[in-house]
This record gives sequence, structure tokens and C-alpha cells, in this order.
Amino acid sequence: MPTTVIKDAVRTLRLYNVITGPMKKFYIETFGCQMNAHDSEKVVGTLMSRGYEQVEEPGDADLVLYNTCSIRDKAEQKVFSRLQEFKRHSKGRVFGVLGCVAQQEGEKIFERAPHVSLVCGSASYNRLPELLVQIESGQKRVTGLSLDTEDTFETPLTRRDNPHRAYITIIEGCDKSCAYCVVPFTRGPERSRTGTSILEEAGELARMGYTEIQLLGQNVNSYRDPTPGGPDFARLIRQMGEVPGLKRVRFTTSHPRDFVKEIVDAIDENPVLCNHVHLPVQSGSTSVLKAMQRLYTRDDYMRRIEWMKRSPRSIAITTDIIVGFPGETESDFEQTLDLIDQVEYDSVFSFKYSRRPNTPALALDDQISEEEKTRRIMILQERQRGIQMRRNAGYIGTIEEVMVEGFNKATAQWIGRTSQNKTLNFNHAAGGIGAGQYLPVRVLRAGPNSLVGEGVN
Ligand code: 5AD
Ligand code: SF4
Repeated sequence: MPTTVIKDAVRTLRLYNVITGPMKKFYIETFGCQMNAHDSEKVVGTLMSRGYEQVEEPGDADLVLYNTCSIRDKAEQKVFSRLQEFKRHSKGRVFGVLGCVAQQEGEKIFERAPHVSLVCGSASYNRLPELLVQIESGQKRVTGLSLDTEDTFETPLTRRDNPHRAYITIIEGCDKSCAYCVVPFTRGPERSRTGTSILEEAGELARMGYTEIQLLGQNVNSYRDPTPGGPDFARLIRQMGEVPGLKRVRFTTSHPRDFVKEIVDAIDENPVLCNHVHLPVQSGSTSVLKAMQRLYTRDDYMRRIEWMKRSPRSIAITTDIIVGFPGETESDFEQTLDLIDQVEYDSVFSFKYSRRPNTPALALDDQISEEEKTRRIMILQERQRGIQMRRNAGYIGTIEEVMVEGFNKATAQWIGRTSQNKTLNFNHAAGGIGAGQYLPVRVLRAGPNSLVGEGVN
């Protein structure tokens, strides 16, 4: 490189320091879903492009950020207790609350946690650089809380945590109004990205060496490219399956109402699309589904399950279930148990109903007691455990391709993940194995939550 170019670069660097002052350090902690995890990756990239350096301990940082979740009351309570813990580090530091609790509580956070200076919801992350300037210039209370944005938070600066598997947001916000759910209030209305920008990002990631991509959105099935004639979700995943270099494409979360047969057809026809669908049912009772404002009946849901069961690809199906929604009777609950028996899910995430601010269900009478919710969730989980044991035992003797995720020193086994999103821990006689590789593994044993096997040479 010619010396004049180096001198210019050094001068630019100095100038940069004159503007931003000495290099600032930030710490970020993230709670909640994959959307939050990926938002944090984008925030990290944005901060680093402004000359901030990431540190591992809040005590070492000038700026402490906390990306929060408010999906259930417990998650929200955690935020305020964690903010209290942070307080002992508060001297000389700036604190920021991001994410769903930021959006939901807004300026009230300043009252409950006066050491906080920045409150910014996910629909306003585009404004972060501008908010950071205000913070850097010494402003004590800065907010980004508007929900009326039409934009998505896209940035080429994203700092991804995992070198092999990357998240790509395709749609933000949610236009449904499920009666229990706070998301439409914390993440705003739906905004889809253009197919072109998604495919370009996927292509760039594949060139960088990523082999697995997970498409993210609160309701990916309602994805619709905003440009006329642009792809819907089924077409988008077909195009994703054609991106050179990608070996696996996943997506989450699906909504049964918008989950069309073309999605299953796309999975059938392209092995790059993983044979796993997470399709939250929430309840097996049509009358509870109606009260939840889910916009489908039990029969509608089961039709979608049938599409997947008839697929030649052995699609793993997982779901979310809420027990104890207001008015849920014993017979409603039994219909949920019957539904999990019929579907035979590969995994179920179950939750006790939690009352959330601003949601339609807040006004419903006939709340179910905490004890009863606990009783129901325990019965549900026990029943599902048996189903998972049986389903996973069905894999014994098969050979599955895994992507290696790492090595567990305690068990001296490699950790792998199958296309169906099952964890498959395995021994391997050959050397030279590393994270990110794809290997065939024979399944030898099965537990309710994972499989155990050995590498096939
Ligand atoms: N109470 C309990 N569970 C909830 N979920 C969303 N809102 C609530 C709530 N108020 C669950 C749903 C959703 C998952 C992400 O969290 O099952 O699919
Ligand atoms: Fe919440 Fe329903 Fe939207 Fe999912 S689809 S984020 S449960 S409102």
C-alpha cells in the first residue's frame, strides 16, 4: 500500500477520534426470542460502526444495554430486577433499555429505574445512531418509542454471533390480534422487506461461508414483498432454496391461518428447506381458539398437519401451547391433550397464560387459578414427554445428517443438529472434525429431548 494512502487512513482515524472522543465501550445483554437475539446482533454492528467496542462485563462498559422481552409477566419482572442489579455499576455509566419492555413501559422506565437514560423499542432501532449522538452529547433522557414506522431495521453492519448459522429478518411486527399477545403493541404493524434485499443478504452470507439461514418474523407466513409482483412466503423460500452455497434454510414463526399448502410443497421439492415446521396451535379447543382470536378452528389446524404428515420428507412438527387461558374448561384442556396425541409433536413449548397489558384478554372474566394452570401444564408436559420418547425412539438405527455445533467436554461427545432441528450428540472415531461441518451420524439411543449416535465413516 502506498505510504500516502496509509497516512490518509491514519489522519481519518484521528479525525474520527476527534469527533467521537476516546473509544467507548459497551455491554449488551439479551432476553427473549430469536428476533431479539438478532436485533441485538444488528445493534452491536451499529454501535461498532460508530467506534464503540464490545466488552463482556457491565463493569467494564461506558454504555450498558439491555434488550428485553415482555411476552409473559415473568420475563418483564426479570427486567426490573436485573436493572436493579445493574445499579451497583451505575456510576459514570449510561444505561439503555431496548426491546419489548422499552416499548411497553416507555418513559415509565425512567421512574422505576432512574439510572436509565435511553429507552428504545425495536420499531425505532433505525434511529439508534441519532439517539446515540444525543446520549454522547450528554442528554440524560432519550427515547425512541414511535410505532408508526414503515421501515424495517436493516443494516449491512450486523455482527452475527454464530459463524455458520445466520438469522435474517424478513418481516417485522404483527397484524394479528391474538387476545393474549403483547407483540402487536411492542413490535408494531407488519412490515415486509423486499425479496431482492433478502436474497442479496442470503447470497452475501453464503459467500462469507454461512451454510444455514433462519428466516425470522413474528408471522413469516404473511410475508409479502412490498414491490408489485414480488414473492409471497412460499415463493421466497423456494428462491432461498436456490441460493448457491446454502445447505439449510429454516423459518420461524408460522401462523396456522397464513400457512398454505404451497409451503409444504416447497419443502417437499427442495431438500435445502429443512424438514421442520414450528406451527403454534395454542389450544386444541375451537372455542378457546375463538376466544383467543386465533382465526382458525381445530379442524383448520389439523388439515395443515395432514399436509405435513403426507409429505414424503418426514417433517418434524413443533408447537406452542398456552394452558389456562380465561374460560378454558377441563373439557377444553382435554381437547388440547387429545390434539397432542393426534399430532404427535416432536416438541412442545408450553406456557401458563399470563395477563399482559393492553391485550384484549385482559378484560375477560373467568381467570384460571395459578394452581390449576400449574396442574394442567404438568399433565400436558408429562403426556408430551411420552410422545417425544416414542417419536425419538423411531430414529434408532437411522442415519441422519448433522451440522456439527460444537464439542461437549463433559460428555466427550460432539453436538450435532439434524435438519429436523433435533439435537444429536455423537462420538466420532475420525479426527479433523469441527463446528460447521455436515456429517452422517447413526442414531443409537433416544431420550425425550435428544438423540445419541456415532459418526459414520
Ligand atoms: N401468556 C402465555 N403465553 C404467551 N405466549 C404469548 N403471549 C402469552 C401470554 N400472554 C406464548 C404463545 C406464543 C409464544 C411465543 O409465547 O404460545 O406462541
Ligand atoms: Fe402474537 Fe398472535 Fe402476532 Fe404471534 S400472531 S405475535 S401470537 S399476535
